Amino acid sequence: MVLPDGSGPAQAPVVPVLNEAERFKLDGGDDALFYAEPRLVQHLDAAFRGRLTQLYRERIPPCATVLDLMSSWVSHLPEDIHYDRVIGHGLNGRELEANPRLDSHWVQNLNQDQRLPLDTASVDAALIVAGWQYLQQPEAVAAELLRVVRPRGQVIVAFSNRMFFQKAPQIWTDGGDRDHLAYVARVLLAQGWGQPELIAEATRSPGPLGWLGGHGDPFFAVISPRP
Ligand SMILES: C[S@@+](CC[C@H](N)C(=O)[O-])C[C@H]1O[C@@H](n2cnc3c(N)ncnc32)[C@H](O)[C@@H]1O
Repeated sequence: MVLPDGSGPAQAPVVPVLNEAERFKLDGGDDALFYAEPRLVQHLDAAFRGRLTQLYRERIPPCATVLDLMSSWVSHLPEDIHYDRVIGHGLNGRELEANPRLDSHWVQNLNQDQRLPLDTASVDAALIVAGWQYLQQPEAVAAELLRVVRPRGQVIVAFSNRMFFQKAPQIWTDGGDRDHLAYVARVLLAQGWGQPELIAEATRSPGPLGWLGGHGDPFFAVISPRP
């Protein structure tokens, strides 16, 4: 836990992967201002959300301590499964207060400060949904996640093919879906995470559109074990 005087566990060592140009984003304004108004909307469609919840059901053991980093008012966890504790983080306090899954939460701009106010080896599963694409210092965040996740725990980074373009760094805006998967995996591996598993799937729209072959938001995930 980081104490009010700033002391606490030392920040995890970081292995750089990106160059400065790759961290550049079109809107260099404070991210906290961009997220100042609560967005109580779904950022991903029902098909994507259903696939994500299924993945969580398969991969996260009940009674785990879960960290939902870069969260909002929804965490996509299966409603019928009890986790020991769900800790939320985001940029808008009102969104996080509206999230019924969170036992606690905090607000922190990860592009300004990557040190997480969590004890070393205190979390079983760290989740990031539709958030990694906004990280300008992903190496430091991945290193901190490695510190706070327990051995044999995991990180699950999920995303689709949409973004707030002006808020995403160049490494993300310049790449396609496959590049995004490879990039997330590269950053995790560089910080010492275990061999990532990559998931890339089309989804089917719910209801009649899906019966006719309509697609939902494509589903991508990178899952790495904590060695
Ligand atoms: C598209 S929303 C996704 C929210 C949620 N994970 C979901 O599945 O709906 C992107 C989220 O990334 C987080 N985020 C964006 N920029 C951030 C920053 N600089 N620092 C911390 N969090 C940030 C915010 O929590 C924001 O709600």
